[in-house]
Order: sequence, then C-alpha cells, then structure tokens
Amino acid sequence: MNTTPARPTCVSTVRELREAVAGARQVGGTIGLVPTMGALHEGHVSLVRASKAECDFTVVTIFVNPTQFAPSEDLAAYPRALEADLDKLAQVGADLVFTPPESEVYGPAHSTWVEPGNVARSLEGASRPDHFRGVATVVLKLLNMARPDVAFFGQKDYQQVLVVRRMVADLDVPVTIRVCPTVREPDGLAMSSRNAYLSPDARRRAAVLWKSLSAAREMVQEGNRDAKAILARMREVLLSAEGLVIDYAVLVDPESLEPVARVDAQVLAAVAARLEGTRLIDNCMIDPPSSSSPQSPIPNP
Ligand code: PAF
Repeated sequence: MNTTPARPTCVSTVRELREAVAGARQVGGTIGLVPTMGALHEGHVSLVRASKAECDFTVVTIFVNPTQFAPSEDLAAYPRALEADLDKLAQVGADLVFTPPESEVYGPAHSTWVEPGNVARSLEGASRPDHFRGVATVVLKLLNMARPDVAFFGQKDYQQVLVVRRMVADLDVPVTIRVCPTVREPDGLAMSSRNAYLSPDARRRAAVLWKSLSAAREMVQEGNRDAKAILARMREVLLSAEGLVIDYAVLVDPESLEPVARVDAQVLAAVAARLEGTRLIDNCMIDPPSSSSPQSPIPNP
C-alpha cells in the first residue's frame, strides 16, 4: 500500500493563489501563511504545524527573494530543493504552495519599497544594509497577495520579526503575526537552510553559537549582571571554534535592540558569525532570576 501523502496543490501566479484562497474563505476557513525561501527544514515544518493548528487553510510560499540579498551575497548559490520541499509539505499537510517566478513578484517597472525604520539599522541591518528593505517589501507583497489572517515566522530571525511586526502595525496590515520557537539540532545549532553549506567539520564547530548563548544564560542565572563580562565569555566560547569570525555578539534590549550595560531585566543575546564563509545567526532571550520584566515583544500572547 502506498502511504505517501498527496502533494499540496502548487500554484505560481497571484491569480491562482487568490482563487485558491478565496475558495477556502468561501467555506468559512481562516487562512495561515508561512513565507519561506525554500530548502525547508524542521524549523519551517514547525511553522506549518503551528499554522495548521490555528488556521483552516495553510499557504506556504517558496520564493528566494532577490531583493534581500546584497550583490556580494549568496543569491545564486542559495539552496533550492523544490521537490524535497514539496514532499515535506505533503507530509505535514500544507494545503497550498505558492512558488512564483521572480517576474510574478517584481514586474519590470517595480519601484516601490518598504523602508523599515530604526529597528532595521543595527545587528543584521548593519552587516546587510538593504536586507530588511527587501524583506519588508516582499513580506508586505506576500501578505497582500494571499491576504492571510495569520502569518508565521521563526524566532531565529528575531530582528526580521521586529521589522515585520513594526511594518504591520505602521501600515495597518490586517494580519496577526505569530512567532514560533527556534528549532535546534541535537547539539543546539539553530536549524537554517544555510547550515547545508557547512563541511561536516565546520558543522560540528558551528555548535559554538548556541554554546555561547547558553553560557550567557548560565552566567545571568548564576547572578552575573555585568554585560561586559558576559559578552567576553560569549566571545571566548565563539572563538573556541577554529576559523570562526565573529560578526557580532551582543546583549540588547529586546524591543529597541539597544545594547545594555547590565542585565537587570529581560535581554536578547544575539550572535552572528562566519564559518567557512557561511554566515550563521542565533539568539535567545535571557531573564535575570528575580526579574519581573515585562514580556518581550516576541512571544505570542
Ligand atoms: O525568513 C525568510 O525565509 C525570508 O526572509 C522571508 C520572510 C521568507 C522573506 O523572503
């Protein structure tokens, strides 16, 4: 007996997408959207599961958005694995997959951009200057194309979530943004499509990103409040991996992303580093033991 689940319907034009979504709405269904760039892993699958748990009809978009890559970045080499992606989406039960060609998303006369504010300037924004302009623009376009009730993002791209939430609030986009926890490999490495670039040896060394965040969390739990000392330890752990180049290792306010000098309330620890030329990022929220700090903007209510 063949137990392979049927692949979800796959469409590549906005018209087909809208027709399918309208069909689901007509029968009273709520629509969940999971925007991705493909090369799907368990992190993406967890977003689809969250959408299926909350919504009646789940749309997954697979589009490697060229406008969020700098000319020097890995657009051409970015992993593409449509067949395997469709199999994974069949397993998890996505209802519709939208795989537009670039011309469907960016017409020849495209000249309108979403320019995110302050929250996009530091960390990833400092290393990748136009990255969030490309992300915000494509996310707004995908939201307008599919008009979902809820859209799902992973906490691994923490700053992306802040940018998207700010945009949705500022531009009155009628959608709820949900954030799902980072999914990790057994050694703690955050799942990412870019992990596929790493050699087996670099892959082993990449576990230091999570180790450095865990070390920061432990120090805070042991009562250390001094950001300088915690950051020094984070850098030490990161640099224990041969060949790793730190882009940043920071303790910041979870909302403003401004650096903190002391961990007196909840902070975000975030790291970015290069291994064999592959840029990896990770983050975690840290609460001081006696903190009665308000919830960060990230967790869902
Ligand atoms: O997180 C991603 O994969 C991308 O930035 C997104 C949200 C799909 C926009 O291209």
